[in-house]
This record gives sequence, C-alpha cells and structure tokens, in this order.
Amino acid sequence: MSHPLEQLREGALREIADAPDAQSLEAARVKYLGRSGSISAWGEKMKTLAKEEKPNVGKLLNDVRNALTAAIDLRAQQFRTQKESGALSKIDISLPGATGPTGGYSGYSGQPTPLTGYSGYSGYLPLERGSLHPLTQMLERSIQIFRRMGFALADGPDVEDEWHCFDALNTPPDHPARNEQDTFYLPGGRLLRTHTSTVQIRTMQAAPPPIRVIAPGAAYRRDEVDATHSAQFHQIEGLYIDKTVSVADLKGTLEFFMRELFGADTDVQFRPHYFPFTEPSLEVYVKSKALKKGEQWIEVCGCGVVHPAVFEAVNKERGDKAYDPEKWSGYAFGLGMDRLAMILFDIPDIRLFAQNDLRFLGQFA
Ligand code: PHE
Repeated sequence: MSHPLEQLREGALREIADAPDAQSLEAARVKYLGRSGSISAWGEKMKTLAKEEKPNVGKLLNDVRNALTAAIDLRAQQFRTQKESGALSKIDISLPGATGPTGGYSGYSGQPTPLTGYSGYSGYLPLERGSLHPLTQMLERSIQIFRRMGFALADGPDVEDEWHCFDALNTPPDHPARNEQDTFYLPGGRLLRTHTSTVQIRTMQAAPPPIRVIAPGAAYRRDEVDATHSAQFHQIEGLYIDKTVSVADLKGTLEFFMRELFGADTDVQFRPHYFPFTEPSLEVYVKSKALKKGEQWIEVCGCGVVHPAVFEAVNKERGDKAYDPEKWSGYAFGLGMDRLAMILFDIPDIRLFAQNDLRFLGQFA
C-alpha cells in the first residue's frame, strides 16, 4: 500500500495535467498548495506523528510539494505559450511591413488618395527608406558652400521683439513692413520675425568684431498665399564684419556661392535696391543655362553694406563702442532658400514644400 501522500500526489498531478484552462489550474493550486489546502493540512498533521515517522513523512511531504509546484508552473507556461501563439497565428509574419506614413510612398502610384488619404492604401506596402526634405537638402548644400568660405553658424529665435526685427535694423516706426497687414504680431508686443536679419543684431550683441556668420532659419510674413508666396519661408542670413569690407567682397562671395550651387555658367547680376539697414543695398539675380527656366533673370537675394546706424544701435545696447563705424565695416545678405530650391529643383509652387505630399517629396529622395 502506498502512503496517502503518494496517492495525493498522483491524483493532484493528474488533475494539474488535465486542467483545461488557467482558471481550473488556479483552482487546483489553491486546493493543494493554498493556505488551507491539502499540503498545509499535512503540515499540521506532521505534528501529531510519532517521532520515528517524522523524517520520512517530512521528506515525502517536501517532495510532493515540490512536484506539485513544478507541475503547476509547467502547465501555466503551456497556457501562456498557447495564448501567444494563438495571437500570433492571426498575423502572417512572412508578409512585408506596412507601418507608418513613410512606408507607403511607392504604393501611391495609381492610388487616388494622396494628401489626407493614407488610410487609402490597401494591403501591405514595403517599408521605404526616408529621405531629406528638398528644402533641407538645399539648406545643407548652401551651408556647406559657406562653411568652405569660413562662415560659422549663428542662430536666433523665430518669436522676436520689435527692437531686434525693426528698430535695431534702422527701420522707423512708420515703415510699411511694421504694419499689421505685413507682420504677425503676438500678444505682449512680440512678433514672428519677418526676416532672419534679426540674427545680425543678436550676433553683434553677443560678440565683438570680426564676425563671419550665416544664420539659416524660417521667417514669416502675412503675404497673400500663392504659388510664390507662403506665410512661412526660409532664409540664410549672412553677416561679415571686419576692417575694410567692401561691396567687392560681397559680390565675390555671392557670385562664388551661386556658381557653386547652379554651375559655372551661371550669370549673376546685382541691381540697386533699398533696405533700411544696408547702404548701398542690392538685389541679386541669377540666370543659368543649367536651369530649366534658363533664359530668365530670377531674384534670389537681398544684400548690402551694413548701415552705420545698425552699428550704433548695437553699440548703444552693448554699452560700448565695439562696432565703431569708423573702424569696422561689413556686408549682410539674406538668401531666399525656398526660391533657390524652386529654381534648382524646378518646383513650380512654394506651397508644395509644406503640404507633405509624399508623391512630391519622394521625387527628391
Ligand atoms: N532681410 C532682407 C529681406 O528679408 C534681406 C536682406 C538681408 C537685405 C541682409 C540686406 C541685408 O528681404
């Protein structure tokens, strides 16, 4: 006759192995291993046994407890595995990926839902590699050219005050650019900068001359939005200040830049213009056979020699005479990046840059 504990083990192991689901298994665990379960009861019973019986029964009780615990763990693991493979069986892991809006560009061909319609894709599309936005590509190429000429990068905030955007740049209070029709004003007298020339001022506030920086970034104007005007556009501001800087330096730098960008047979023209913060002021036009609109002069940049009044405004704020107009001179320019990218990539409408249409963006991958 086997010991009652051995019989208990046999019955319990069978019950555990046959448990049809996790709940039945839990019930069995409570029944045998729970606080008022059979194994605990045997623990109590041990106290009543004769001294010579105790070691054997004690050992057997331990063995049974360990066997049941192991069997329950094993069965629980089987249930978990079943559940996971059940969930997985609904997914065909051999199919190609179909995640995220960057995934499906090529699948658009022939599909009618371009802009909002990512939900329009049917079935699984291969994951595609991402690429840089054409404006970013343009920016990186431009920055590289200027860096080779020794320009460092400068930066400034998009949300500005009137002093940095206008006053310090010699722009009087009644200037049309300060009009609410042209500028986005924010509560508390702040505004969205209308040009990156604000960074000229911030750079001079922060350090004495000489200065040779470029500052790429966004600018904002309340223009009527059309194919060539957007409420947000991008510029690269340039500022070079040293002893005896002249218009010749400015022209040489910008000509070199345009030829690096558009090719050696690019013609560059400087036409007189007006900006309050430069004197003389110029506009830069380019024409290149390499470009699609090859025979046309296109305006791409405003520039000029820094006006002494700008130096004086900076000095006043700095509380020194670091930018003495008698000692230092400089040039500044503002390149329209959207315009340059439109010319270089033959893009007909500035709004395309912000619409996030993957059919458009994918062409520059
Ligand atoms: N800030 C001017 C604009 O946005 C461009 C410019 C920059 C002109 C620097 C002269 C010097 O139109």
